[in-house]
Amino acid sequence: MDVFEKLPGALLPWYRENRRDLPWRHTREPYRIWLSEIMLQQTRVEAVKGYYARFLEALPTVEALANCEDDALHKLWEGLGYYSRVRNLKKAAGILMERCGGRFPETYEEVLALPGIGAYTAGAVCSIAFDLPTPAVDGNVLRLAARLTEDPTPVDQPALREAVRQRLAAVYPAQAGDFTQALMELGATLCGPNRKPECGYCPCREFCGGALHGTAENFPVKSEKKPRKTEEMTVFVLSCDGKYALRKRPDHGLLASLWQFPNVPGKLEPADALAAAEKMGLRPRELLCQVERSHIFTHIRWEMRGLYLEVAEPGGDFRWMTAGEIEKEAALPTAFRQFWEEREHV
Ligand code: ADE
Repeated sequence: MDVFEKLPGALLPWYRENRRDLPWRHTREPYRIWLSEIMLQQTRVEAVKGYYARFLEALPTVEALANCEDDALHKLWEGLGYYSRVRNLKKAAGILMERCGGRFPETYEEVLALPGIGAYTAGAVCSIAFDLPTPAVDGNVLRLAARLTEDPTPVDQPALREAVRQRLAAVYPAQAGDFTQALMELGATLCGPNRKPECGYCPCREFCGGALHGTAENFPVKSEKKPRKTEEMTVFVLSCDGKYALRKRPDHGLLASLWQFPNVPGKLEPADALAAAEKMGLRPRELLCQVERSHIFTHIRWEMRGLYLEVAEPGGDFRWMTAGEIEKEAALPTAFRQFWEEREHV
């Protein structure tokens, strides 16, 4: 008997007793489940809660999402990161409007075919919203499976995910949505990342290899990560009469179409920075302050020098915005927002 067969019987009663009360667990509306699963990719539950409520308040239907202006959409996602997620949400909503008046499809294949939806998200949405036997295998579930079977295969090996998906699919119970969420829940709590596994409280302790043999902590096995590339840059917080200079990022690549403070590659010394500001068509008045900050993306680390510079008039090829306009209209990703929040201390 495959040890996976024991999971539903152990996990379903445990989940009903122990599940966290989360906003997306009060609905089975596919649009809401879909949104929650996209937001929860690479993002902690606590961070998602507020965004989820605000997003649905502003855009309660597929139709509202499909018709939302990009700047307003980015603003709803501001600070969550991985902004291609929200662009794909809108693209998929547009397709659903064109095809079937905004109705969400109810088969795994149709859901999987939508932009931004891979095997994990399609499995999660179809099981949670429609009780289809479609597993959702993320890092949490891979960790749980590796401990259960004491599997030494490196977890980042792509074939492993598909193998776990198939083994799980073969044991899915009728309460598919609860089972998907039970796996996620256990993988995020007792068997969670960056903590000691709490096998003593685990519903799987009587059949899990890691719990029985005390080896849970040795799994999952990870292969060496490549170090991130570092890029240095100078970020200008340019002010003039209560307005600040912003510019939109290009419509492709990292942080596409979001707003940013003007910046140049490399960490400039103050004299070179003033010269760079003049080249942007500005007349610098006073260098108010300088700070050093960093921001980590999946593949790159930005090392940034922030320079707060007062200029004589609002020139250059920028949009000069008041603090109110920035708060209301401009989605400023966290990498740049940290300089904005710090202006109060300048
Ligand atoms: N992580 C990914 N999906 C989740 C969900 N539905 N509930 C809690 N954590 C999750």
